[in-house]
Amino acid sequence: MLRIGAIKESAVKKDFIHIDDWTRDQILSVLDLALEVKAKIKKREPYKPFADHTLAMVFAKPSARTRVSFETGFTLLGGHALYLNSADIDVGNREPAKDVARVLSRYNDMIMARLFEHQLILELAEYASVPVINGLTDYNHPCQIMADTLTIKEHLGRLDHLKIVFIGDGNNIVHSWLHLSRRLPIHFVCACPLHYPPDEQTFELARNSGISQVEISHEPLEAVKDADVVYTDVWASMGKKHELKERKRHFKGFAVTPELMAAAKPDAVFMHCLPAQRGLEVSDEVVEAPYSIVFAQAENRMHMQNAIMLKLAGKV
Ligand code: CP
Ligand code: NVA
Repeated sequence: MLRIGAIKESAVKKDFIHIDDWTRDQILSVLDLALEVKAKIKKREPYKPFADHTLAMVFAKPSARTRVSFETGFTLLGGHALYLNSADIDVGNREPAKDVARVLSRYNDMIMARLFEHQLILELAEYASVPVINGLTDYNHPCQIMADTLTIKEHLGRLDHLKIVFIGDGNNIVHSWLHLSRRLPIHFVCACPLHYPPDEQTFELARNSGISQVEISHEPLEAVKDADVVYTDVWASMGKKHELKERKRHFKGFAVTPELMAAAKPDAVFMHCLPAQRGLEVSDEVVEAPYSIVFAQAENRMHMQNAIMLKLAGKV
């Protein structure tokens, strides 16, 4: 068993669907666990808690990082992961989510799914008897922001009260930042074009939580003042790619450039969940700059998810 700190924790929920499904203490302890498991993997210590376990990975959308990090992570911890795309399992079309959930639960120890409709992952979780992990929906991307939090902790040495400025679409990434802000104190600003705000209810819940300062801005240059972290994502998410042409017009002025980075704190870092469309939401120069930590973020997807899976499986 790994040490997970002295915090006396309440029981963790069966599934990991939203960051704010977890308490502050649960989030902090899983971050510590990720660092411990990362160190073990780096040292190639024999550690196979998922021996004889299987993970079903269901993908309705494309993926590089999520697929590879879950499959590699689960394999390194001794288990076997199955990749299932919509030609195999088409949740909600070929079969209802409640049937997929119960069938996969009969073969597998855990399910990870990347779906379009958020409602479908909620149904999967409700009907599955094994833990279900959200690998991105149209609404949120909790594993990404947990990994980003780990990356910030490693690179900036702290989490509390950092100013994190997201430039671009008020999308699934923003919703997960807003969920995090209900548990850890941050100053989060979403600088988006007028008609691309985050979900109103999600924003209001974060704003009224009394934990963090959260704001919406439409002025990127003003928003990044005093920022510790400048974060962006594609202007058109999966499922919205057909809108890219019009979005390019609407998002003019919302690109992260060296000039925008120069308006943040002198030691600010740049983050992007990837894949990036260089020349649109971010310039090539910014991605390649010494202040860019995008590949450390990508690596931490695996370490963070390993910790999340260990926690849900009750292995720690
Ligand atoms: N960041 C992320 O989730 O990447 P993929 O879409 O490649 O999985
Ligand atoms: N907002 C992006 C994130 C990709 C990891 C999308 O949903 O396509």
